[in-house]
Amino acid sequence: MDRDRMKAAAAVAAVDEVVSGMVLGLGTGSTAAHAVREIGLRLEDGRLANVSGVPTSIATEELSRQVGIPLIDPGSASIDLAIDGADEIAPDLALTKGGGGALLREKVIAAAATRFAVISDDSKLVQALGSTFDIPVEIAQFGLGITLVALSELGSPQLRGGDDPFVSDNGNYIVDLAVAPIGVPAAFDRALQAIPGVLATGLFVGIAHVAYVAGAAGVRRIDALGSG
Ligand code: A5P
Repeated sequence: MDRDRMKAAAAVAAVDEVVSGMVLGLGTGSTAAHAVREIGLRLEDGRLANVSGVPTSIATEELSRQVGIPLIDPGSASIDLAIDGADEIAPDLALTKGGGGALLREKVIAAAATRFAVISDDSKLVQALGSTFDIPVEIAQFGLGITLVALSELGSPQLRGGDDPFVSDNGNYIVDLAVAPIGVPAAFDRALQAIPGVLATGLFVGIAHVAYVAGAAGVRRIDALGSG
């Protein structure tokens, strides 16, 4: 099975959790796009009805409209289930996210959802966050130099896009922070969030309830401790 088929298989497994009437958080990235298309398909063929979504990026908003998922504003209803991809998944389902630059909206929605299902192929499984992927950090444009100096106390920051900086859907910059494998992600996250220019970090700790991870042998479900 190639990586894209694995991503699609993981997405379908997560969408099997969706029932009619749910409000969904719709993630961003190539794996989440499979989930969005699958939800659209099930709405079209009648397997699902009365489902609405809150998209985590402009790209996901556009895709959701294309496939016919009714969208609502964040905060206008409680979110039953968020489905999103990840860049790294630790054994306790702590995640690195934000490779696509949508981390702030993704975190707002995933944290607000009653349940958060993460979907990926098995290349994203790691023993420690930061070992295969730099940690995305969304920062204010104001005070860029000051924030970069503060971040360099914790790793090696790279402004995404360099001289032509990437600007997020929220109008902010993204820094990719190269770090040594992170021992205690919650503590590292607190250290990052203590920097005034930091608006959101790509460390999602204690947020995911379940992961659907696809490999050559099929899709494995991993439940977070205490999520049954
Ligand atoms: C978007 O900002 C990210 O958090 C994505 O969810 C993450 O990068 C995974 O992307 P893919 O599903 O494309 O690998």
